[in-house]
Amino acid sequence: MLTATITVDPAFVVGPVRRRTFGSFVEHLGRCVYTGIHDPEHESADEDGFRGDVIDLTHELGVSTVRYPGGNFVSGYRWEDGIGPVENRPRRLDLAWHATEPNLVGVDEFMRWCRKTGVEPMMAVNLGTRGVQEAIDLLEYCNVPGGTYWSDLRRSHGAEEPYGIRMWCLGNEMDGPWQTGHKTAYEYGRLAAEAGRAMRQVDPSIELVACGSSGRGMPTFGDWERTVLTEAYDQVEYISAHAYYWPRDGDLASFLAAGVEMDVFVEDVVATADAVRAAGNHSKRIAISFDEWNVWYMGTGTGNDDAPQEKAKVTDPWPVAPRQLEDVYTVADAVVVGGLLISLLRHTDRVHAASQAQLVNVIAPMMTEPGGASWKQTIFHPFALTSQHAAGQVLRAAVDAPTVATPRFGDVPVVDATVTHDPATGDVVLFVVNRSLEEAVSIDVPVRAFGDVDVVEALTYANDDYLWQATETDSTSVLPEPNATAAVTDARLGIEVPAVSWSMVRLGRA
Ligand code: AHR
Repeated sequence: MLTATITVDPAFVVGPVRRRTFGSFVEHLGRCVYTGIHDPEHESADEDGFRGDVIDLTHELGVSTVRYPGGNFVSGYRWEDGIGPVENRPRRLDLAWHATEPNLVGVDEFMRWCRKTGVEPMMAVNLGTRGVQEAIDLLEYCNVPGGTYWSDLRRSHGAEEPYGIRMWCLGNEMDGPWQTGHKTAYEYGRLAAEAGRAMRQVDPSIELVACGSSGRGMPTFGDWERTVLTEAYDQVEYISAHAYYWPRDGDLASFLAAGVEMDVFVEDVVATADAVRAAGNHSKRIAISFDEWNVWYMGTGTGNDDAPQEKAKVTDPWPVAPRQLEDVYTVADAVVVGGLLISLLRHTDRVHAASQAQLVNVIAPMMTEPGGASWKQTIFHPFALTSQHAAGQVLRAAVDAPTVATPRFGDVPVVDATVTHDPATGDVVLFVVNRSLEEAVSIDVPVRAFGDVDVVEALTYANDDYLWQATETDSTSVLPEPNATAAVTDARLGIEVPAVSWSMVRLGRA
């Protein structure tokens, strides 16, 4: 068995655990909205047609924010199509996903769903086919109390009180050639700056996210962020980052180390944002909204590994809510998701928000059948447990471990970890992944600095067959299980973690 040591101290704080790290994403794509969150025929559907089982699972997942309505979809979306009496709403072509959008769910329905799930909305405006005027119209509809055309229209639709939406995304992936209304960095930076300036005139309390790169592999990566922030620095609080991971060419060793790639991505965006800060003599710092991340088994072969190529699979003429991007996840995928959450937490000083893409059916932690069952995918578990138990402050965790060889990243430490500490309760939580395909690791964590603490709970998610997948008929055979090796002895936590595993150890005052 390999051995590793993780050194932490309550004095070495990276930053607070931010609830917005545990965001998700609902796009009008495939069956995320229709037959995902919204399925009026379903036995659990409420008066608005929302599935009760999905609302319950959203609570259990511990989702804090939900980005909406896209994604690529938003770049061709007319938000006004989705308000007013449903029977009067137009059906439209959705160019992004080659589907028909029936507009049964729009901003008012989404806001009702947010209330029911207790999530904070994160609204995206269309800066692909539209511009400043439509962005401020939507903001007026949502956030102005009344007495104007759009705000009174909202009230006439039954929403007397303004929605008070704080976070707004200035478009989506505008660097991507696949994006409807794709722009150069300069064109987008100017538009984002002017849309942001006008939106802030409507509501100065909003927080704005400029589009960063659709992936670190984009040919414009780096220069895109530099140019966009040079134009829009004063108008935005965040720059976005998007990244999807999968075992490229079947390379599981590198896939399990995906957190390394996320670390580098975050650190490169931070460096670029800070360079613009220095060059422009700005005082504030730009944070990252990592508002699309997940495992996604994208196809390969177009020469651009960051393009959403799955859309090419839809050949039917403009279907409504087709089955798209319905990835079925393995235990190994869940270990990677747990590792990506470790990376996001480790960067809590600069990553102030994140959204796992997406919530249901579309590359998602939960699945539904139309009018039928719902179930958890493997990736549900590390997300739910991290969201539930990460609390207080994120601490610097120094990992001293043997390395594993990976074709893409070279030698990387076999374990990766982060630790949170809540000074109010004394609770300490270790989140750790073992990235080895073969070997278990015995981990030693000196904990004397936290006082007299003991193990409250230790869970490990792993399986001898790490390619096991949860399905409608069996989603519960492999669950996070108590790890009986975890113990505190002589002020040292010891735990053994199997190959390809994610674990969480909670310590509390003894
Ligand atoms: O999440 C799926 C798609 O991935 C989103 O619509 C887009 O923004 C990204 O390319």
